[in-house]
Amino acid sequence: MRRFIPKTFFNPISMIGAAIAGISLFLGIFLMVLDYFAGGGRAYVGIITFIILPLFIILGLAITLVGIIRQWWLRRHARGLEYHFPAINLNDPHHRTVFGFVAGLSLLFLVALAFGSFQMYEYTESVQFCGTTCHSVMKPEYTAYMYSPHARVSCAECHVGSGADWYVKSKLSGAYQVYSVMFNKYSRPIETPVRNLRPAQQTCEQCHWPKHFFAEKQIEKTYFLSDEKNTSWWLNLLLKIGGGNTETGPTSGIHWHMNINNKIMYAATDSQRQVIPVIQVYEKSGKIVTYKSTDDSFKEEQLKNAEVRQMDCIDCHNRPTHIYRTPNETVNEAMKLGWINPKLPSAKSISVEALGRPYATEQGAMDSIGVFIHEQYALRFPDVSRTMKSDIDSTVERIKKIYSRNFFPEMRVSWKNYPNNIGHLYSPGCFRCHDGKHVGDNGKVLSRDCNTCHVILAQKLDKKDLHISLDGVSYEHPVDIGDAWKEMNCSECHGNQ
Ligand code: HEC
Ligand code: HEC
Ligand code: HEC
Ligand code: HEC
Ligand code: HEC
Ligand code: HEC
Repeated sequence: MRRFIPKTFFNPISMIGAAIAGISLFLGIFLMVLDYFAGGGRAYVGIITFIILPLFIILGLAITLVGIIRQWWLRRHARGLEYHFPAINLNDPHHRTVFGFVAGLSLLFLVALAFGSFQMYEYTESVQFCGTTCHSVMKPEYTAYMYSPHARVSCAECHVGSGADWYVKSKLSGAYQVYSVMFNKYSRPIETPVRNLRPAQQTCEQCHWPKHFFAEKQIEKTYFLSDEKNTSWWLNLLLKIGGGNTETGPTSGIHWHMNINNKIMYAATDSQRQVIPVIQVYEKSGKIVTYKSTDDSFKEEQLKNAEVRQMDCIDCHNRPTHIYRTPNETVNEAMKLGWINPKLPSAKSISVEALGRPYATEQGAMDSIGVFIHEQYALRFPDVSRTMKSDIDSTVERIKKIYSRNFFPEMRVSWKNYPNNIGHLYSPGCFRCHDGKHVGDNGKVLSRDCNTCHVILAQKLDKKDLHISLDGVSYEHPVDIGDAWKEMNCSECHGNQ
């Protein structure tokens, strides 16, 4: 064996280097095998195997090389030789074996390096790496993602996309993120909108062909009111999604906004892009229509610092996967499915209250939710608290589950910090522009007529008659609030005010 290795290798520095590289390589292989047989899935193992150990291997090899060069240099001096490179004579059998051995080893190393870099590339792009490495920081995004329509789309497909430039950009910003996590410098919650998000054309539109014509989509909702009887209200909406391209269908409907036949620019005066006083539509014909809000609170000088942006998918679909749902939404759904018994008195209001109370930690919430709900029943409905005990227990379990998927007190994440721009009930959403107060310079008003974006096919309040019509029934608000729902934005009462 010794005769294969150049004599210059036998010096303390090179041997230490080789030992570091050798041990790291052995550990790497050992961990890979272990992880394979254990079924994988541990984020930290990946970081060690594919990032830290390879760094040590490279470091070890570099030290070895430094040792060899140093040794060679010392010898040359000792012998008083003139400066020249070591002579390799392939006719000399000894030189030939050494050369062959070193060349073979280098090739093997290069292949291993290529394999390792590919593994490292794959690993740092994996959902496991993005979602679970900085566990507490990414927990909200990861948890919400796991229960979303995009659960099988990797984080990198939306946040990085293809191409080397964005890969490098993402790793540089990733390095900063590692720093901010290590020194506890990140904001809670993480600020949105994400300003350096890759444009939707290069991410969303790679999978969702924007020219596609979407037909109408029916949505059916059951709501429960906050009274003791949990009075229910049922609604059936036909959402006019439509399309944005004249070649694939009519360009009416909601997807008319997609940047195919029209370009829409808007100015937002707040950091979350929720207040939009000015909009400009650039039509294909070259005509530009400017819409301005007639809202009294809006002042011209606010526009100077406003962010100007071209509308794309993210301006509506800002929560395609990190969807933090509201207490009302989630409890209505659980009651509709019978997971929470609608016959349990005041189940709606008590559940919504349990979810909305301030908790400092998730564990705190898990401990308090049950206590709170049982207390409410013991106090307000002592009989029910005995006769419907199992329903109350299952309500508690359901509310805990809802809480742990939608509320993350440690990161201060919930629907309140991350408004969802699809719809208009809990956050302004479409009504940021379609509030009936934006008037165009051609006199057109951005309508908030209830049958513009959807047709209300049917609605029914508990035992009352069913109202049904294909042309759209006129809306009735579930509780009498006069004309307030026609004049105010729904989110002014239903949102985080
Ligand atoms: C379907 C595309 C998509 C996938 C898949 C996706 N994200 Fe996102 N993510 C977004 C969009 C869009 C935003 C921007 C929201 C905004 O600007 O308001 C975002 C925002 C974020 C934010 C900022 C905070 C927040 O909640 O808005 C973090 C952190 C994040 N994503 C992490 C992840 C992680 C980790 C994964 C994988 C587990 C992931 N994302 C997968 C589209 C995606
Ligand atoms: C890698 C491909 C991929 C990318 C990138 C992607 N999506 Fe999706 N998207 C999907 C798949 C797959 C589904 C699920 C389809 C299904 O279940 O019917 C989906 C579903 C959806 C839906 C329907 C959700 C629902 O409630 O049914 C919307 C809206 C959507 N995506 C928007 C977006 C937006 C916005 C982006 C960019 C931030 C994006 N997607 C990026 C693949 C992708
Ligand atoms: C004006 C706001 C708006 C814009 C801009 C917009 N969408 Fe949508 N999109 C909607 C609404 C509203 C729906 C229906 C709501 C739902 O499914 O929950 C929808 C539905 C969808 C769906 C699901 C259709 C289905 O059948 O469930 C996909 C996919 C989608 N949009 C992709 C995109 C992509 C890609 C872009 C960007 C090119 C985009 N959207 C731009 C508002 C918008
Ligand atoms: C940034 C402002 C803005 C936002 C946010 C916005 N819209 Fe619009 N929308 C417009 C403008 C401007 C028009 C064009 C009116 C015109 O010129 O006819 C329009 C037109 C429409 C139309 C009529 C298209 C047609 O057939 O002519 C529909 C439907 C629509 N929007 C639905 C929605 C929905 C649903 C949302 C929320 C998911 C939404 N919009 C959010 C600005 C906005
Ligand atoms: C600019 C378009 C637009 C206008 C105008 C509009 N809506 Fe909507 N509405 C939507 C969209 C988009 C959704 C979301 C559907 C979803 O959740 O996917 C929605 C959802 C709803 C829902 C169900 C909300 C939920 O999440 O449970 C109700 C109720 C509703 N609209 C009532 C109305 C009423 C009443 C009016 C008239 C004052 C109105 N809408 C006007 C676009 C619009
Ligand atoms: C002036 C305040 C106010 C405005 C504005 C308002 N609502 Fe309501 N809404 C209420 C009250 C109060 C209730 C009863 C809440 C309960 O019993 O839990 C209610 C209940 C509801 C419910 C059923 C309860 C649930 O689970 O969410 C729906 C759906 C609803 N409103 C939709 C709308 C829509 C859509 C708009 C806008 C077009 C709107 N509201 C505007 C005050 C308002």
